[in-house]
Amino acid sequence: MPFTVTVQPSGKTFSVDRDEPILVAAIRQGVGLPYGCRDGACGSCKCRMLEGRVIHGAHQQKALSHEEEAAGLILTCQAAPQTDVVLEARTVPGAGEFAVRKLPSRVISIDKPAPDVAVLKLQLPANDPFQYRAGQYVEFILRDGSRRSYSMATAPHEVGDKPAIELHLRHLPGGKFTDHVFGALKEKDILRVEGPFGSFFLREDSDKPLILIASGTGMAPIKAIVEHMIWKRSERKAFLYWGCRSKVDLYLDDWARDAATRMANLHYVPVLSEAKPGDGWHGRTGLVHQAVMHDHPDLTNWQAYACGAPIMVQSAQRDFVARCGLPDDEFYADSFTSEADKHGPLG
Ligand SMILES: Cc1cc2nc3c(=O)[nH]c(=O)nc-3n(C[C@H](O)[C@H](O)[C@H](O)COP(=O)(O)OP(=O)(O)OC[C@H]3O[C@@H](n4cnc5c(N)ncnc54)[C@H](O)[C@@H]3O)c2cc1C
Ligand code: FES
Repeated sequence: MPFTVTVQPSGKTFSVDRDEPILVAAIRQGVGLPYGCRDGACGSCKCRMLEGRVIHGAHQQKALSHEEEAAGLILTCQAAPQTDVVLEARTVPGAGEFAVRKLPSRVISIDKPAPDVAVLKLQLPANDPFQYRAGQYVEFILRDGSRRSYSMATAPHEVGDKPAIELHLRHLPGGKFTDHVFGALKEKDILRVEGPFGSFFLREDSDKPLILIASGTGMAPIKAIVEHMIWKRSERKAFLYWGCRSKVDLYLDDWARDAATRMANLHYVPVLSEAKPGDGWHGRTGLVHQAVMHDHPDLTNWQAYACGAPIMVQSAQRDFVARCGLPDDEFYADSFTSEADKHGPLG
């Protein structure tokens, strides 16, 4: 018999099958809850359980600590109800708007614009339009059933009549999927994808100024969001900070500079963490989230969207909230967790 989950304060209800994680049921029924990795590693789906009982699957301590669990917090991506449940959670209008579907995709091209970055262009079926929000991601379903997530760098309005999306992949040596992409993958290969997933997209009901902060390939969904804002002729003030190690890693520098000319209120600030004398770099250096705090010490009336390396996302959330007064619920993120992040201390 299914259980009923009620989300407060919205009052939304949905049913969850026995042993089914709450988030899986919510996505299936188009209920927009906040989430990121769907795998117990990022903490984006954390919320308070007001009533009921759940069993938690394996998850990372940094996503949900024992103390948080004892205080009644749960991860919806890992929690299966044992009774009817009442949650206190933000609902995310739009997160469940487009049905999640499995699609075959064909590799159109693989470019390598930086030493460890591949830009993958994928053809999607023409007869079955793929809809999503700028900032969302797809999952590749690998032969052994494991999955890897990549954010779309293409804004939905750019998908076109011969539907194609662009993904930006950073090579993690020893990684199951990116080793394949940087080694054997070739044009015309077929890859199975599923999507769209995620609640990382622009909250368009707000006119607060924006911090958009990315590290490395975290620029992919930020690029889609900026292109979407340009297309919508958004007049919101936005500061785009992009952190990379060195100059050769700034593979979207030209695009970002051009975007700042196409959107009057967009300011672009690249920041290098490992610039060396002789690089010819005259821009900002250091950690990208610290550059944001240096320029914007008061974030009380802002929204921040962060994407990329888990350490950058965690540091930005912690410090923007604690030191710059950003409201906790105005921080939105996709943390690019990988197998390496899933093998720390388990909860
Ligand atoms: C919501 C979301 C969106 C994402 N979007 C993007 C994106 O747009 N671009 C992007 O580049 N990435 C993105 N990622 C990350 C991406 O999904 C993959 O995790 C990443 O590309 C690594 O995949 P892989 O199969 O190559 O490596 P994995 O097989 O996951 O391995 C990663 C690293 O961990 C090591 N490792 C493997 N197993 C273990 C273990 N048991 N213990 C310790 N270390 C281990 C490997 O040697 C390797 O160095 C996203 C992640 C999420 C959750
Ligand atoms: S979505 Fe639940 S921990 Fe990442």
